[in-house]
Amino acid sequence: MKRARIVGTGMAVPECVVDNHLLSRCMNTSDEWIVQRTGIRERRVSPDTYRMLLRLAEAPDKVAFMDEVFAQGLDGKIDSTLTVSDLAFEASTMALKNAGVEPRQLDCIIDSSTVPDFAYPHTGCVLQGKFGLTSTPAICLQQGCAGFIFGLAVADQFIRGGIYERVLVVGAELLSSIFDYTDRGRDMAVLFADGAGAVVLQAVDSGESGLISHHLHTDGTILDGLSGEVWGTSTYPAISKKKIEEGRGRPRMNGRAVFVQAVRRFREVIGKCLGANRLTVADVDCFIFHQANIRIIEAVTDALKIPPEKTFNNVERYGNTAAASVPMALHEAVLAGRIKDGDLVLLAAFGTGFSWGASLLRW
Ligand code: COA
Repeated sequence: MKRARIVGTGMAVPECVVDNHLLSRCMNTSDEWIVQRTGIRERRVSPDTYRMLLRLAEAPDKVAFMDEVFAQGLDGKIDSTLTVSDLAFEASTMALKNAGVEPRQLDCIIDSSTVPDFAYPHTGCVLQGKFGLTSTPAICLQQGCAGFIFGLAVADQFIRGGIYERVLVVGAELLSSIFDYTDRGRDMAVLFADGAGAVVLQAVDSGESGLISHHLHTDGTILDGLSGEVWGTSTYPAISKKKIEEGRGRPRMNGRAVFVQAVRRFREVIGKCLGANRLTVADVDCFIFHQANIRIIEAVTDALKIPPEKTFNNVERYGNTAAASVPMALHEAVLAGRIKDGDLVLLAAFGTGFSWGASLLRW
């Protein structure tokens, strides 16, 4: 039987850096509040969001300015200069180059993006087209922050089953395009940001390093925890002026409920992953968590007695990039020499749905 191995990683972030001080000029928040509760000091956002924030910081009536942007775009323009598939393409190009694989050698592309370029077709299609491919299947998992782990698990089954040899798995997000950066949206706007991460999986013989096991879960009974109705059949019609005016187009989050659920589910799924493989924390060389929030990560590592030197975190520099966060952290951990050949690595993520999962691999 074949096994899937990660043979190349890549990532991409926009050049524009937004620190907590710029956000404090847009909404009633502070560097201290954000750092204490989340560990985030800065994040990357699209050039459009960056220009908007600079203008919002100077606006005398911030709510009126933000409403004008939601209604008319910035300076009356609503076309984006950077889309989520642009970031996905950049990260994927890097992963393919590092793997020494040409786009035409790919048998399948699996993307997860919470907010796509278009409602349909999905971002995987747009990304595939950017590579000039005309028949490679592109699959999209709209799986929120757990999207990359779910994507890895699906790709692994195709490779183990002998159906495909090379699969590109991508997590890409341009979340700064959906938030309200005034006091109304400050609970979420300070957390999330833009970025993309990608890996190339290749079939290898089963005795070699590679993906070992995946443990996936969803609880769809707590939808209010973290959701967005931007375009959806929860309303009729699926999109309307009224929906937007009532703020139902914007994301919603119950921060405390998410915190409690995230800590509980991370603990459970890591325990399950270790148990299924008859391992303990001591056997794992590196834990890569979804970079939601340093307090969530610390609550989990404290409870499971995972020493800090066994984790790699970059939430301080990028914020929560949802589906992109695990492949971005994995890429940087490899570059930093924190993951070496033969290391046992555990990836874990939790997000909207709620959906959560863990993957174990030998590097
Ligand atoms: N700046 C300043 N104050 C803010 C704020 C911000 N950006 N966002 C919210 N607040 C305010 C709230 O309005 C509330 O004010 P009130 O008490 O007057 O109503 C207060 O801060 C809440 O404070 P506190 O209870 O101390 O917040 P918290 O410790 O629960 O932290 C979160 C809030 C959102 C940081 C925390 O709940 C969290 O991390 N949740 C998980 C979020 C997450 O990771 N989501 C993604 C998962 S994939």
